[in-house]
Amino acid sequence: MDPALLVFDTAEQAAAACGSHTLECLTQAVQERGIAYLAVSGGSTPRIMFEWMARQSFDWSAVHIFWVDERCVAPDDAQSNFRMTRESLLDHIAILPGQIHRIEGERPPEEAAALYVSKIRAVMGGKPVFDVIQRGLGTDAHTASLFPGEPLLNDKEGIAAAVWVQKLGQHRVTLLPGVLERARNTVCLAAGAEKKTALRQVLAEPVETLLRPAQLRSENTSWYYDRAASGS
Ligand code: 6PG
Repeated sequence: MDPALLVFDTAEQAAAACGSHTLECLTQAVQERGIAYLAVSGGSTPRIMFEWMARQSFDWSAVHIFWVDERCVAPDDAQSNFRMTRESLLDHIAILPGQIHRIEGERPPEEAAALYVSKIRAVMGGKPVFDVIQRGLGTDAHTASLFPGEPLLNDKEGIAAAVWVQKLGQHRVTLLPGVLERARNTVCLAAGAEKKTALRQVLAEPVETLLRPAQLRSENTSWYYDRAASGS
């Protein structure tokens, strides 16, 4: 099914709408299965969405939080996706530590990836299906830590892997395409004029995920973006 496209005047409005849809999907998952699985991305854009979510009256007691990807840095590093999520969301909600499953970026990349796969399997089983995966958009149309030309973009079987990002000179751990495509709901949040070109290509060009990884989608995919990113 084609993605739903929702544009808003401001980044804050897009983030609030994306956060609201995320919470709705989690609520439905808990009602249907008694538990909900969420995977969040890092970078800077999601911070305003997490801050909005943290201000809502929401019952997190049946929600397990995972990460779409992580930089291979310590959890208190300024570049850590976990640190950004902790500061903007986790420190402000009632959720048990056992329901927070971070990628241990402080370990060697391959070890961090293997440990994360074990964590996911232990909690969700061998073919994990997230109820919501929240993803971002890079200016080069990357998503997660899957960058254009990355061979892992062809891996539909694996759960997560370590990846060397040449352009950033950085090791990362990322969920793999098969898991991203199996999500019950995918919410993609993009904001700012710097994302205009990538967003237009992702939404308008033929789907070629090796070229434009952010075109990866699941059965219910929604794009939330502001007018600056829409170019209008
Ligand atoms: C990361 C993210 C990545 C992010 C994009 C956009 O670890 O960086 O998971 O996929 O979503 O790079 O990042 P910004 O929101 O900072 O533009």
